[in-house]
Amino acid sequence: MEVDGELAQEIENLKRKGITPSLTIIQVGDNKASTTYARSIRRQAEKRGIYAEHYKMSGEVTEKEILDVIKRLNDRKEINGILLELPLPEGIDAKKVLDAIDPIKDIDGFHPVNMGKLLEGTPNFIPATAQSVIETIKRTVPIDGKRAVVIGRSNIVGKPAALLLLKENATVTICHSHTRNLPEVAKTADILVVSTGKPKMINSNFVKPGAVVIDVGINKVNGKLVGDVDFEDVIRVAGAVTPVPGGIGVLTTLMLLKNTVKAAKIQHGFDA
Ligand SMILES: NC(=O)c1ccc[n+]([C@@H]2O[C@H](COP(=O)([O-])OP(=O)(O)OC[C@H]3O[C@@H](n4cnc5c(N)ncnc54)[C@H](OP(=O)(O)O)[C@@H]3O)[C@@H](O)[C@H]2O)c1
Repeated sequence: MEVDGELAQEIENLKRKGITPSLTIIQVGDNKASTTYARSIRRQAEKRGIYAEHYKMSGEVTEKEILDVIKRLNDRKEINGILLELPLPEGIDAKKVLDAIDPIKDIDGFHPVNMGKLLEGTPNFIPATAQSVIETIKRTVPIDGKRAVVIGRSNIVGKPAALLLLKENATVTICHSHTRNLPEVAKTADILVVSTGKPKMINSNFVKPGAVVIDVGINKVNGKLVGDVDFEDVIRVAGAVTPVPGGIGVLTTLMLLKNTVKAAKIQHGFDA
């Protein structure tokens, strides 16, 4: 994979300067999906020579205890990136805790400073899934002047993906659950990005012939992973469709590692 090769080169360059990029994953509670995700990131990081810690906290901790851990990690010079796994247990204010992460260590790109930079058109850390979306599109089709429709307006996928498409000079429409005549609007898209969390909701009636369709959804149905796009139906009319599993999700971890390397570069005073 092209992105993997570029990442390996950047890590190699840093290592030659005596720098090992590093991250800490904070997990609060025993959510099975969070444990699997943390292990996978750690494994992928270590495989590429990035130092990774998995800091597990009990589900009974207080908000202050989490804030204390974040403060310690903000202060630890040898840690470049901090990733706080969501969801957090009830009673913990996720926004308050996420906002406590130093923006230069915010490899998830959820801090308001990083969101603001993205809105301004001068992004620093971009949420990894949105970054996978834009990198996939860039490597598939020219974006400039195209009509793009993003279905979903979450802070972690839909909104940042729309802003990145806008930055690449697409004409962008954002749709959501109140959008009227969704199939009609979706059918205007040369590039259709879907992030709804509704299994297989997008079929060929939503797709313009030849369109590039990016499926962000990851849903478990009868023990099987499926996307938000009905792949078999849509591939009949689309120019390209990303599969689930094996599509955007795979690239997302690499983008997180890319952000870790970027954090290391910034913190050591190199151009990122
Ligand atoms: N591949 C990856 O790395 C990755 C990363 C993150 C998420 N995901 C997956 O992506 C999916 C979406 O995640 P998310 O965090 O963006 O979800 P989310 O926060 O639940 O947002 C879903 C969005 O879809 C819109 N929506 C829901 N039903 C709709 C409908 N019938 N018609 C039009 N719009 C509709 C919602 O509209 P309203 O705003 O009006 O409610 C909302 O904006 C999930 O399957 C998740 O597991 C994958």
